[in-house]
Amino acid sequence: MLNIPAEAEFQALQARGAAFLGTELAIMGGAMSWVSERHLVSAISNAGGFGVIACGAMPPALLEKEIAATQALTSKPFGVNLITMHPDLDALIQICLAAKIGHIVLAGGIPPGPAVRAVKDGGAKLIAFAPALVLAKRFVKSGVDALVIEGSEAGGHIGPVSLTVLAQEILPYIKDVPIFVAGGLGRGEAILGYLEMGASGAQLGTRFAASTESIAHPNFKNAFLRANARDAIPSIQLDDRFPVIPVRGLVNAGTKKFLAHQAEVVQKFQSGELDKTAAQLSIEHFWAGALRRAVIDGDVENGSVMAGQSVGMVTAIQSVPEILAELKAQAVAALVSRAARP
Ligand SMILES: Cc1cc2nc3c(=O)[nH]c(=O)nc-3n(C[C@H](O)[C@H](O)[C@H](O)COP(=O)(O)O)c2cc1C
Repeated sequence: MLNIPAEAEFQALQARGAAFLGTELAIMGGAMSWVSERHLVSAISNAGGFGVIACGAMPPALLEKEIAATQALTSKPFGVNLITMHPDLDALIQICLAAKIGHIVLAGGIPPGPAVRAVKDGGAKLIAFAPALVLAKRFVKSGVDALVIEGSEAGGHIGPVSLTVLAQEILPYIKDVPIFVAGGLGRGEAILGYLEMGASGAQLGTRFAASTESIAHPNFKNAFLRANARDAIPSIQLDDRFPVIPVRGLVNAGTKKFLAHQAEVVQKFQSGELDKTAAQLSIEHFWAGALRRAVIDGDVENGSVMAGQSVGMVTAIQSVPEILAELKAQAVAALVSRAARP
């Protein structure tokens, strides 16, 4: 039964985020390379959330096609996530602006000044990832319109700090722009908690990757269904001379082979067979194409099965509208039971 006061309280808590995104719910579908394409993005936006296309390594012409195909499937707002080190970043921004994309997310590093100006001058809203309070303040000064704070619980490339800590460090001090929390979120009660701390909304990835509308291979979704939180671990670095980019994903044969590969490379470096640059490159190349292999080809043993610790809360393949309705219902139910407490 609809509980009017609890419903209104929830709406009030998420109003700023929803108004910023132009949506019914202040929930973003975090961009996921190979997964966040036209079908999932439009499904999230059509269900009242905010879908975000993952541009990843796509060339400009391909992004242009993906945006047009997504616009054919939804008339609701959605965003595009661009990686700052993409060699064609400027062209990708222009593609988004020409297609009247209202929100551009710049991920994978500090947004470069010219990119910030191009997005703003083009009339789109700019969203950036803030991994620490000092950077959050700097981004706001430079004109960023909203921030995502993503904890290390998240799937994919991660920073070192959990959302529990980032939220406490950042939410009380940044009020000028809306902040969306991400990483390890699987239930509405947790989202409600962060809204009450001052967040304007949330971003989820893992739960949407396992949705009906996600084009991820059935093997990928089934791996999510089987996994517990503890199975989603960050990539392990064997030797501090050879850094490994921290990426959270499910343990499999590939993650074990990666350790053996690093050991072999370090040994070749020590014997003089490889110089430092060649050794580092060999480590970096190990995962090339591995996400695609898992998501599209379904090779969940050797591919990279990126997933957040929230994977333990994936207990069924649900449709996107079901997931969003469930998250909201959990948040509202928490408000109802609080009001009922003596
Ligand atoms: C399979 C997968 C691929 C991802 N790829 C990207 C990406 O290309 N760009 C990005 O900014 N974040 C990426 N992420 C992070 C998500 O956008 C989101 O912030 C994260 O999944 C939130 O944590 P959760 O998985 O616990 O919900 C990826 C996450 C997953 C699970």
